[in-house]
Amino acid sequence: MKSSKLLALFTLAIFFTVAASSCKHAQVTSEDVEIMDEVMAGGLLFYQGNDVVLRASGNSPHGDFKLLFNQTAWDALDSTGRLPVGGTFPEGSMIVKDILRGGSTDLYAIMLKKSSSSLSNQGWLWNEFKPNGSVVIGVSDKGDACVGCHRGNTNRDFVNSFDLH
Ligand code: HEC
Repeated sequence: MKSSKLLALFTLAIFFTVAASSCKHAQVTSEDVEIMDEVMAGGLLFYQGNDVVLRASGNSPHGDFKLLFNQTAWDALDSTGRLPVGGTFPEGSMIVKDILRGGSTDLYAIMLKKSSSSLSNQGWLWNEFKPNGSVVIGVSDKGDACVGCHRGNTNRDFVNSFDLH
């Protein structure tokens, strides 16, 4: 191969590397919008009916948080507020981790049960967004940054909190 061709290829490779690394914004899909709309609409229910701050435990990367469920997820919980061991959440279940910093929401981390979606991982869609609406981890990432920890918990549908809180 001629050296001028090599140089052109090399330049092209550099260009794509820089272009890829400078594009830090998550890709926003209709699933992300659906998730953010449902969270911001309110009407979610606190874990065990208590509006309390839970301390991060286990290998949690997130910090202190409040834990909320939509009605569909809530209906799958037992009288202790937990998913029974071996249980699974029905389609449409949403679990929201309202992560706090200095007493107010810093980040929402969400699992939405949608196993029919091609973007699901372990049956869930995975998303993180800021209260100002910016998506930090988009559904299109397919839980790459999430399932490493969550997939360990097979006895409760990949949800960690019931064994920790
Ligand atoms: C390093 C391990 C780890 C990673 C990575 C991780 N989580 Fe978690 N996650 C936890 C633990 C542990 C809990 C239990 C609550 C607690 O103590 O923080 C949790 C709780 C949650 C909850 C509340 C439901 C539950 O499972 O208890 C949601 C929602 C959640 N994480 C979403 C995410 C999303 C979305 C990602 C990826 C962007 C992610 N997590 C990445 C460890 C992790």
